Amino acid sequence: MKQLKSNNFSIFVIVLSVFLFGLFMYNEDVKYIAEFPFSSPKASEIQEQQSQKGNPVQESIKSEQENEVTSLNFQASIEETTKETDHDMKTIVVKNDEEKIEEKKEEEKIKTPVAVVEENDEVVELPPEGCDLFTGQWVFDNVTHPLYKEDKCEFLTAQVTCMRNGRKDSLYQNWRWQPRDCNLPRFKPRLLLEKLRNKRLMFVGDSLNRNQWESMICLVQSAVPAGRKSLNRTGSLSVFRIEDYNATVEFYWAPFLVQSNSDDPTRHSILDRIIMPESIDKHGENWKDVDYLVFNTYIWWMNTFTMKVLQGSFDRGDTEYDEIERPVAYKRVLKTWSKWVEKNVNPNRTTVFFNSMSPLHIKSLDWNNPYGIRCALETTPILNQSMYLDVGTDRRLFVIANNLTQRMEVKVHFIDITRLSEYRKDAHTSVYTIRQGKMLTTEQKADPTTFADCIHWCLPGLPDTWNEFLYARIVANL
Ligand SMILES: *[C@@H]1O[C@H](CO)[C@@H](O)[C@H](O)[C@H]1NC(C)=O
Ligand SMILES: *[C@@H]1O[C@H](CO)[C@@H](O)[C@H](O)[C@H]1NC(C)=O
Ligand SMILES: *[C@@H]1O[C@H](CO)[C@@H](O)[C@H](O)[C@H]1NC(C)=O
Ligand SMILES: *[C@@H]1O[C@H](CO)[C@@H](O)[C@H](O)[C@H]1NC(C)=O
Ligand SMILES: *[C@@H]1O[C@H](CO)[C@@H](O)[C@H](O)[C@H]1NC(C)=O
Ligand SMILES: *[C@@H]1O[C@H](CO)[C@@H](O)[C@H](O)[C@H]1NC(C)=O
Repeated sequence: MKQLKSNNFSIFVIVLSVFLFGLFMYNEDVKYIAEFPFSSPKASEIQEQQSQKGNPVQESIKSEQENEVTSLNFQASIEETTKETDHDMKTIVVKNDEEKIEEKKEEEKIKTPVAVVEENDEVVELPPEGCDLFTGQWVFDNVTHPLYKEDKCEFLTAQVTCMRNGRKDSLYQNWRWQPRDCNLPRFKPRLLLEKLRNKRLMFVGDSLNRNQWESMICLVQSAVPAGRKSLNRTGSLSVFRIEDYNATVEFYWAPFLVQSNSDDPTRHSILDRIIMPESIDKHGENWKDVDYLVFNTYIWWMNTFTMKVLQGSFDRGDTEYDEIERPVAYKRVLKTWSKWVEKNVNPNRTTVFFNSMSPLHIKSLDWNNPYGIRCALETTPILNQSMYLDVGTDRRLFVIANNLTQRMEVKVHFIDITRLSEYRKDAHTSVYTIRQGKMLTTEQKADPTTFADCIHWCLPGLPDTWNEFLYARIVANL
């Protein structure tokens, strides 16, 4: 860390103190302790930025943002399934035998209260090749969104069922992501299930990927009758099984992807996090021969400036570690991960995705709301994209992940959820969630400064959109 000049340093300390006051956070997955989650800005950056805005720390991160690599284009190439071409939009037609199966199950469905909306036109338009799906805007659309109802998806955990947990406003469920240059294909559960027939889809990573996994279960489960689907949680692996399609939607807990002391799927809230950046095979064994792999790793990196890297091995009982700058350690981990992918993934069989970082909304001044309490009082997304916005995402990690995934020999689809999620200050679980396995008490709910979870997201909600990106990819049959 470079030495800061004393006058700049005192400004830094004041800002830091104010920030830390609102930062304290305690959560079953992620504990924020009294440490600023960003690396110290360089003194020169502080001097440069100081005159512009009264927040040198935030401003210094802005300069990092300018290095941001623009998102990968979403290159949808459509193959055999393409039957029609219409104004540059590719369309695929769902086979009709699916409808026959539906008829057979008609009786069953009337008995089960699970609402299955039958679509008459079975045509899905895919975005044209090269369309950047991640640049666009949020549009209010209470006709098509939410894609499912909270109380119709029995598989949701209490962590994410915000309405059931007492949230009063529900508009956060009604926003649809509209890419600027094309449209996302309409979500059809049965079309996705058809693509997943005899296949495994697995999310690998931290609680944000688990959040998305729960969303994916709800997105597909409405098309599956009761008794033909099940959820089995065993250790690090949770498997949602859809009998009639012999398909699974799975989640594997590995918050750093590589081996760490936080790998226990339930008792992992360890403050002193230590990783083994070159050890991945123990986890990787469980990812082999999966057809769709969706990776992420971010939030667990954000507690401290540096990452603790074990000297030796947990298995040998070693405890000595080095402290390494966060981006350096992140790069080492992703390098290990990319080597694993290149060695173990057969690209003819498996499609690999990497999700960019899911942002936090812990300081309402970031979006110019002096009366906010973290994310707790927010009911609408940020819609003015001209507004300068920095919610503190560590863009250095974004650049590393984007750069690395572009250069791999096995094609990896980089799903850039970061910017569009930064607009969604309204979509977090806030106080309508659990803490250490228990619903927040009335007293805790009344104290969002301490208890609001501004990391995870309500369902239905934002992670459904992340899955719409996966869906667009998967139904394009790549
Ligand atoms: C959808 O939103 C419009 C405009 O706010 C409102 O008039 C309408 O009642 C809403 N429809 C539903 C189904 O919520
Ligand atoms: C069922 O799915 C599994 C996992 O994808 C696959 O290995 C197996 O061959 C499938 N079974 C049948 C009968 O197709
Ligand atoms: C859940 O999965 C585990 C591991 O595959 C298996 O041993 C167990 O029998 C399964 N439980 C149920 C209820 O299917
Ligand atoms: C993938 O398929 C191509 C073309 O069919 C083939 O040449 C290649 O050897 C396959 N790769 C692997 C790893 O199986
Ligand atoms: C959007 O934000 C910009 C920059 O803060 C501001 O100049 C503009 O007036 C805002 N537009 C609207 C519609 O609020
Ligand atoms: C991307 O990675 C390459 C190879 O590691 C490196 O030379 C280049 O500087 C990186 N670019 C960025 C923007 O990080």
